[in-house]
Amino acid sequence: MAFLPKQITTYEAAHLAELQGDVSETAIKYTLELVPPFSQGDVIHDNACGSGAVTETIMGLHPPAIHIDATDINPQFVAGCAVAVQKNGWPVSTKVESAQELTFPDNYFTHSFTNFAFHCLGDHDIAAKQVHRTLKPGGTAIASIWIYMPHVDALQHAHWRTRWKEGPMPVLLPLEGFQEADLRKALEAGGFQPNNISFSEKDCFLKIRDLKRWAQLAWSYLGTLPSGWTKNDEDKWDETIADIVEQLESGDGISKNESGDTVLRMVACVAIAKKED
Ligand SMILES: C[S@@+](CC[C@H](N)C(=O)[O-])C[C@H]1O[C@@H](n2cnc3c(N)ncnc32)[C@H](O)[C@@H]1O
Repeated sequence: MAFLPKQITTYEAAHLAELQGDVSETAIKYTLELVPPFSQGDVIHDNACGSGAVTETIMGLHPPAIHIDATDINPQFVAGCAVAVQKNGWPVSTKVESAQELTFPDNYFTHSFTNFAFHCLGDHDIAAKQVHRTLKPGGTAIASIWIYMPHVDALQHAHWRTRWKEGPMPVLLPLEGFQEADLRKALEAGGFQPNNISFSEKDCFLKIRDLKRWAQLAWSYLGTLPSGWTKNDEDKWDETIADIVEQLESGDGISKNESGDTVLRMVACVAIAKKED
């Protein structure tokens, strides 16, 4: 079995939701203003659903009779979504499914959301092809990414401080961020026509009450190396978390609010892509 540091948080959907705070919801609400309201009978994909932020936000708006399929590659996240679906009686099906190997039929969804996932889901061109394939003609794909997140620098700093300098970066902390041009390239590779894709940006603010707890959750999720965790990571765990906390005390995009919370400014980039009729 792969080595895991004894201090690591074993991730469940609730941990991802805690890490993201309400920034995902803020961005999703903004995104929903960019597309026409849902109609009865719409079939919506929450692709790479994580803890279900898209599904929960849509359901919170009390839409007409729609159906959502929420899928993610991570079984723990899908299990967390399924619990929320059951508890709330939402018209939502959940399934563990890779974005590159969707099993839904062609021309199936009216809307396909891939929220804050294109940067981290592996082969994005294949994922975009699947989004395009499963959308109905005239359907809308909504894909968002974070193009500015101050904590990435903090986590990279901790990586360099506690690991060898020339080694590979964690997959989820790449030096070259995934930007609007990369998302456009992926969507076009997926089959969307260039003139059917539009972009906009939204500033979101993540409030963090307990920096140490947040650093623990962030490092547990984002810190793993391509080859996995090592004994060195366990030995240096406390030093790593302390370094992330120190880095997040101040810097570009980092401030404190009147309650003493740390506030990270994050910038979402949202693509709306229509499949040709
Ligand atoms: C930053 S989270 C975003 C989750 C959610 N969409 C939201 O807005 O809160 C990225 C998600 O992508 C999922 N993911 C990563 N690779 C994937 C893949 N190849 N197929 C499906 N999901 C994937 C992760 O498990 C994680 O839940």
